[in-house]
Amino acid sequence: MSVDDSSSATERKSAINQRHEQTANEVLPEHRGLYIGGEWVQSASGETFETRDPTTGDTLASVQAGVAADIDRAVDAAWAAYDDVYSDYSTAERQAMLSEMADRVEAKKEAFANLESLDNGKPITEARIDISLVVDHFRYFAGVARAHEGETVETDDSRTVQTYNEPYGVVGQIIPWNFPLLMAAWKLGPALAAGNAVVIKPAEETPLSLLKLMEEVDDVVPDGVVNVVTGFGEDAGAPLSSHPDIRKLAFTGSTVVGSEVMQSAAEHITDVTLELGGKSPLIVFPDADLEKAVQTTITAIFFNTGECCCAGSRLFVHEDIEEEFLDRLADAAEELELNDPLLESTDLGPKVTEEQVENTMSYIETARESDARFLTGGDQPDDAALADGCFVTPTLINEIDHNNEAVQEEIFGPVQEVFTWSEYDEMMELANDVDYGLAAGVLTENVTNAHRAARDLEAGNIWVNTYNDFPAGQPFGGYKKSGIGRETAQEAVDHYTQTKTVNFSL
Ligand code: NAI
Ligand code: MG
Repeated sequence: MSVDDSSSATERKSAINQRHEQTANEVLPEHRGLYIGGEWVQSASGETFETRDPTTGDTLASVQAGVAADIDRAVDAAWAAYDDVYSDYSTAERQAMLSEMADRVEAKKEAFANLESLDNGKPITEARIDISLVVDHFRYFAGVARAHEGETVETDDSRTVQTYNEPYGVVGQIIPWNFPLLMAAWKLGPALAAGNAVVIKPAEETPLSLLKLMEEVDDVVPDGVVNVVTGFGEDAGAPLSSHPDIRKLAFTGSTVVGSEVMQSAAEHITDVTLELGGKSPLIVFPDADLEKAVQTTITAIFFNTGECCCAGSRLFVHEDIEEEFLDRLADAAEELELNDPLLESTDLGPKVTEEQVENTMSYIETARESDARFLTGGDQPDDAALADGCFVTPTLINEIDHNNEAVQEEIFGPVQEVFTWSEYDEMMELANDVDYGLAAGVLTENVTNAHRAARDLEAGNIWVNTYNDFPAGQPFGGYKKSGIGRETAQEAVDHYTQTKTVNFSL
């Protein structure tokens, strides 16, 4: 860890606090209410809760603690907006609206990135990537709004069969905290392109960027077309997922809650898409370009401090290159800078909450108790300047049983388990031997190896010689317990429409 040692930890800590206070003053949203029917309103609960800055431990802002009565109001507002206004919007008008949303975010992109970095703890350099993807996804779905066409079905001369892609009306969306605005954009983009009104609930850990978005697009989106209810999962998320007037639900988060959302949806036969956890394998073949492969591995597990559903958290290295590869990987991990996420040089910021630190540390303890070997990390940084933050060091673990809980379950932190392989079939069996199937990576210079592994891996997204790359238009979603449905591509709009077939007898 190469932090600047020239000043004392106390001085650095006070510089961090000052920087965060000043940045918060510049970028926090003005409004902290629920956004319902185009108005900023208080929760029926009369209560608020605090969202914290995980770097300093300080309170960033208080927001409304939404409850079932607020969800009811928001759903009513959404239906009114759909019936009165949005269902009359042409595809050209929806396109223009989404394009303008993209422009508004782009115009304030540095403020959005700083806000995301404050509320989530992600490094500013990575927060900028999130925001540029938000802009790109709104633009992409602006285009899709015009291109998502029905069909004429060929049968015979006795009839004409046509299909229309009609919106559901009002849809519900539940967002996680790891990419707060980007996950909202992944869901708002296709829902709005398809012509739906939305009730959306951000994660309680990171509600601010979505409030700021609505502030910026208040005059762009007709009142009630997007309604934001901040609040806790059980108080605001559960009433949204069980609401009888919600016609489609989209959820990103843990597999446990995803299953609950799906059960709620079942009661009203509500369509549901789920983007859940992962425990994704990353396979290094002996012919990989070692230098590039090490860098890709670093990105695969340490990007966003490991708080990625698709993190490459299980590494399979071929025995012929194991020693050199792991030496280089451990060196590269040790060079990563853990520091204030607002600094340009920071590679890893804090985890989002103290609870998430405890969660990660408990998996690290489980691995330690099993006599696994730590190639690096496995603790919190020994740096007094970061003592109030939710930091965990980049951690690489090997000599661990593949059935260990720490290997089978999603850690969602900067922790990767390493396995050595020699026989392809045995390795592939282990690579697929988890409940999840969100993503996988293949590092090789040999095109046959790449194609073969990509075909054999049970996962929705395979990256070859790259990782964590999300251009709009590339479908994203999971196999097995990693979810249902695909986002970030034209296909996502199918999930927000229902097909109407019209058969004309001639
Ligand atoms: P979570 O699944 O509890 O939270 C995700 C969202 O669901 C939040 O908006 C939350 O308020 C909402 N929620 C919670 N309970 C709900 C309920 N009963 N009904 C409806 N909505 C509800 O995830 P949490 O507790 O924040 O993190 C736990 C673990 O989940 C993480 O350690 C990680 O392994 C996984 N996770 C995966 C994510 C992904 O991108 N696939 C994102 C966030 C967490
Ligand atoms: Mg939770």
